[in-house]
Amino acid sequence: MAKAPAKKIEDTIGDPVEFLYGEHADLVEWCDELARLSEDPTTDDAPRVAATLLEFLEVTLPRHISDEEDELFPRLKKRAPFDERLMHVIEQLQTEHRVDVEHVEALRDSLHRLSFGRAIPDLALFAAFVRVFTMLQRRHQNLENNVVLPAAFEYLDTEDREALARSMLSRRATV
Ligand SMILES: [Fe+2]
Ligand SMILES: [Fe+2]
Repeated sequence: MAKAPAKKIEDTIGDPVEFLYGEHADLVEWCDELARLSEDPTTDDAPRVAATLLEFLEVTLPRHISDEEDELFPRLKKRAPFDERLMHVIEQLQTEHRVDVEHVEALRDSLHRLSFGRAIPDLALFAAFVRVFTMLQRRHQNLENNVVLPAAFEYLDTEDREALARSMLSRRATV
């Protein structure tokens, strides 16, 4: 029997820049879900939702940040150092990524408690923190959608995009 042709990278992850747009849309939806949970964490469904959000914060978000920090941003810096606005925006986004890691730490304990059906000691504080976190996330993804991803379409060549897709795929295959 003839051997099936090897799957091309584009068949599995598609265009990596389009894929990142898709993940940004997902991240904003997760923020909406987190905001709803913080408004009423006593529903029957709250433990399941909290467990799903915990996985998002511990797996999906860090993986997305690695795609940008390890591949997308270095390639853009190499291809378009003359684009001052882009370089400035990337610097800002990298600072925000470092803050994201701290925010995930701060949310983890509350979501862990909720995932086991336990109460949060200070619900008002949790809700306030979620408001800040989700506001920053929405602003961050919006800036990437409007500045960084259009720049990726403009500056990255085929080789860059294939390498980006390959690293994104390997990151997802190992998690
Ligand atoms: Fe980002
Ligand atoms: Fe992003």
